[in-house]
Amino acid sequence: MKIAIVGTGYVGLVTGTCFAEVGIDVTCIDINTAKIEGLNNGIMPIYEPGLEEMVRRNVEKGRLQFSTSLQDSLKDCEAVFIAVGTPPGEDGSADLKYVLAVATEVGRYMEDYLVVVTKSTVPVGTARKVDQAIKNALNERGTYVPYDVASNPEFLKEGAAIDDFLKPDRIVVGVESERAEEIMRRLYKPFLLNGHPIIFMDIPSAEMTKYAANAMLATKISFMNDIANLCEIMGANVNLVRKGIGSDTRIGQKFIYPGIGYGGSCFPKDVKALIKTAEENGYPMRVLQAVEEVNYSQKEVIYNKIKSHFGDLAGKKFAMWGLSFKPNTDDMREAPSLVIIDALLKEGAEVIAYDPVAMTEAKHHVGDTIKYARDAYEACIDADALLLITEWPEFRSPNFEVLAKLLKNKVIFDGRNIYESEQMSEMDFTYYAIGVKS
Ligand code: UGA
Repeated sequence: MKIAIVGTGYVGLVTGTCFAEVGIDVTCIDINTAKIEGLNNGIMPIYEPGLEEMVRRNVEKGRLQFSTSLQDSLKDCEAVFIAVGTPPGEDGSADLKYVLAVATEVGRYMEDYLVVVTKSTVPVGTARKVDQAIKNALNERGTYVPYDVASNPEFLKEGAAIDDFLKPDRIVVGVESERAEEIMRRLYKPFLLNGHPIIFMDIPSAEMTKYAANAMLATKISFMNDIANLCEIMGANVNLVRKGIGSDTRIGQKFIYPGIGYGGSCFPKDVKALIKTAEENGYPMRVLQAVEEVNYSQKEVIYNKIKSHFGDLAGKKFAMWGLSFKPNTDDMREAPSLVIIDALLKEGAEVIAYDPVAMTEAKHHVGDTIKYARDAYEACIDADALLLITEWPEFRSPNFEVLAKLLKNKVIFDGRNIYESEQMSEMDFTYYAIGVKS
């Protein structure tokens, strides 16, 4: 079986590589020549655990190719996946220009039946636009080639993307013909061995499923952050409340960890886009508007705690552990660290950060306005407080005796609740967490 994947960003590259891993002949295409050259030389455009090795293995086996030419790559393909970016436009709606440009090109060059699958996260109704773009391109050529469009949203988490792809909770496919369904079923068969379901549905429902899933998860987080803030006021401990409610299987233990707001390339963008789509169709998404509002202010929670502890921040020095929006990624998009850094610098404070992976990427966002340490302990030398921003595993059990010596004040602001309040007070640290009275 042969397929092409257009777009070698996060989704495209992981998807293409995982399909190759199960024996499918895959060509990944990108218009960015430097990216393709890099990939042909084993250089990954993104950091994702396990990806580099898997790419190398499949390139060596001849199952994975990289190319800049869609035209050459379409030959003998049964499906082409569109996995290009959909950046948010100024009004928050997803910009479809790259998706539709690929659809037009597919229409221009396809020679045999193809399933044209949208993998990028696109608003409900996009498949229809993709269909139209292909039709227009075929009309311009003055020919007809049979094809079907399909929607196949992805549910990958950064940092765990390969595992998510190889062992999916479910695969959702929107198709509207038996021929397309048969091809998609055959393509995904190797991933269904552990009993994970493939759920076929109409195309608009598949498109909506993706947004509804991310919006639901974002809602859980904002809800818990709201509860956490109230716990603090009322003298309750959100860590206990979380366990208490999570044991109800209807609620579940997952995705109810309070913190300093969700970030990344997905939740903020998708929540905004769904609000926008609904608005354009005359329906206000009231819950999601509140989810966004809570998330926005949650990113300032740590800063507010710092401010009320220290008062004047001018000349104060803060050690920051973690910069990326979550562990196991170098992704800095919408990272809470950026909001906190900005607020601290505005007050004349100094930030010395350490992140195991994201420091190079962070420089693209904040440059040299902050200092970067070579390791976690170096960041703490003479700092007025330690700020735990991203819960990387290496921060989970530091040597607190060493920390006590390095820090100017024994103060920790934990944005992820990874330390125990009792243990911290036994060691005489002033410890601030989220949703726990200090
Ligand atoms: C998210 C979804 O989890 C994926 O299923 C989806 O495919 C993906 O978006 C996408 O649309 O592409 P991702 O953005 O990689 O994946 O990251 P998550 O692990 O979901 O974390 C998102 C944010 O929520 C992070 O900022 C994290 O710190 C925060 N979070 C997560 C919490 O604050 N509390 C939690 O309990 C869980």
